[in-house]
Amino acid sequence: MLQFSFVRKATLILVFSLSIFLNGFSNEGMWLPMDVKRFIQNMEKLGCTLSADDIYNLNRASLKDAIVHFGGFCTGEVVSSQGLVFTNHHCGYDAIAGLSTPEHNYLDSGYWATSFKEELPVKGLFVTFLVRVEDVTTRITYSPNPEEAQKRLIEEVEASGKYTAKITPIYYGNQYLLWVYQTFNDIRFVGTPPASIGKFGGDTDNWMWPRQTGDFSVFRIYANSNNEPAPYSADNVPYSPKNYLPISLDGIKAGDFSMVMGFPARTSRYLPLSTLKQKVINEYPVLNFMFGKMLRVMEKDMAGSITVKLALASTQARFANAEKYYLGVTTAMKDTSIWFKRAEEENKFQQWAKYSSYQAYDEVRGKLQSLNEKASSTFTLEAYLRIGFSLNPIIQRGSAISPLMAALKEKDASKIQSATTKLKESVVFEEKTAATYKKVLAALLQAYTASVPEAAWPSWLTEKQAVKIMRKNQADPYLALADFLYNESFLGNPEKWQSFLNSPSAKTAEKDPGFQLAQSYQQRMSETRVKAEAYRAEEAELMKVWMKALMAYQPERVWYPDANSTLRLTYGQIEGYSTKDAIAYDVLTDHTGLLEKYVPSDAEFDLPLRLVNLLKSKKFGRYADANGNLPVNFLSNNDITGGNSGSPVIDGKGRLIGIAFDGNWEGMAGDLVFDPRYKRTISVDIRYVLFCIEQLGGAHRLIAELRIQ
Ligand code: ARG
Repeated sequence: MLQFSFVRKATLILVFSLSIFLNGFSNEGMWLPMDVKRFIQNMEKLGCTLSADDIYNLNRASLKDAIVHFGGFCTGEVVSSQGLVFTNHHCGYDAIAGLSTPEHNYLDSGYWATSFKEELPVKGLFVTFLVRVEDVTTRITYSPNPEEAQKRLIEEVEASGKYTAKITPIYYGNQYLLWVYQTFNDIRFVGTPPASIGKFGGDTDNWMWPRQTGDFSVFRIYANSNNEPAPYSADNVPYSPKNYLPISLDGIKAGDFSMVMGFPARTSRYLPLSTLKQKVINEYPVLNFMFGKMLRVMEKDMAGSITVKLALASTQARFANAEKYYLGVTTAMKDTSIWFKRAEEENKFQQWAKYSSYQAYDEVRGKLQSLNEKASSTFTLEAYLRIGFSLNPIIQRGSAISPLMAALKEKDASKIQSATTKLKESVVFEEKTAATYKKVLAALLQAYTASVPEAAWPSWLTEKQAVKIMRKNQADPYLALADFLYNESFLGNPEKWQSFLNSPSAKTAEKDPGFQLAQSYQQRMSETRVKAEAYRAEEAELMKVWMKALMAYQPERVWYPDANSTLRLTYGQIEGYSTKDAIAYDVLTDHTGLLEKYVPSDAEFDLPLRLVNLLKSKKFGRYADANGNLPVNFLSNNDITGGNSGSPVIDGKGRLIGIAFDGNWEGMAGDLVFDPRYKRTISVDIRYVLFCIEQLGGAHRLIAELRIQ
């Protein structure tokens, strides 16, 4: 709390801007890596000794060559000359759960490969390096056929067969960037601490500070004998990377420089008030509510069975993270000062726009506002429908049989044959989760029908058959309905599915209650989606004008585009925060916090006994801080979001000091509104990571690969 003196707090309040208009505070910004020259001086002022070329350079190894997009949804960093990659435990979660069985439960027990041979291939997992990025705006917008131009640009890159390319619009389509990537598909699982460490604190502590989570896991990139990407093969060898990060054990303190490089997925920092309102007041509470309904059912069943737990672990983690995210954003956005500030800024902008040379600038805010009013109920209904039913196997199978239904109607024997074969291969009746999904369906039907006017229900729910079943089972009408569907429908019952595929008939399907539900659901969904898409297209056009107007309003500002899963850099400092008068958070937690929160056998706060004993003995060796404690998690004011998970936190000398894994509750508005008072990154201290690998995991061979400086 010492770093949060009164003076510091006062300065923060002065620069508190929340602004889509003013970029007052240096730690806001998910910057494009090729722009680093434009702000490297600011970085130097904060203590960075790297040059712009050390960070992003096309002619020699630079920092960007040590960063990977992990599986397309997280970030990882290369930390050894043999392609070793650190990322978060929650990023490796799906892979770890997928490799686990009740007998070899890596999720619960952890895992450390003791040789290359024991490193386990992960099907479907890949990592991607950024080769280069280029502004291709003029090549696209000056082309008589912009779509053709985009295609050609991509083909030019991909012709060699070495790289893939992607073009992303930024600033709502006012600019275009071409990203060139190299992807590796043989990624192997090297090790993880038990989930009691990697997910310590569980969903209770998720999105919260103070925190003591060992949220890391370890993978390795494999390449062919020419050090090139290749599909999995037993002959592949550890990849020798262009660059990898050295590691610092020097430790951190408030005020130190810190930067994060990674692949933030999505922010919407430039929205007008009317869109913010639509999201926060209408859509987000729906998402929170519907995720919650599914989760409560899943969690109950997971607690009762290890098989169900492993089968649903990854989905549960994703949903629980989303449920709390939407609650966090709506809660943080209850701070009325955010809205007042934004309103004031928009009004000032409007004054300017009124007299600007473009009528479109003057009109755009009003147009967006009426669009939002018009579209609000459609967007909200779409949210209910999207979450409400799309995860249900009955509805999924109902849509999977559409090609077969079409073939049956055409009476085309060969099409029927091939559609049937496809279904036999692709549709699985997962026995382990069927009972749970049935209850999830009941909970969702109940939540949906209680929240949405009857006119928007899938029509089958209001027809005789369904109504009769519900009337007869008033104690739990929706469970009765779900039971009925799982017994009677060929989309819910595996034997009936088999006999349907053995002699498929359109008539049988059309009489089937599950198919009727699926069809009437799909009809609602597609009506709603068509409307929503039309609104979104209109919105996209308006947002392009809005963004252009904002940029014209403040031509001197250095802008950064919203996150879109491309490589970004954010720099700032190790810094705590203060919530209310006299309440302030320190920047670092240590092992004492782990022991304080430890609850033996608890689902969220248990710890391996061996760790508890090690912590009590306080033998931390070179991983101890100046007081002899073991640092666990720390805070910095770096500007990150989901997708940055697993990103390296790097000190002023370019050394790895931590792995970013979360944001704090008070800063949850951050994807919509950057608030410098609260927006923080939570990272696992690299000293705790190495302690877990070495002292707890005994994986000395991995420690020996690292470059510790
Ligand atoms: N909140 C983190 C993020 O979205 C994910 C943390 C995962 N941990 C958990 N307990 N679910 O990046």
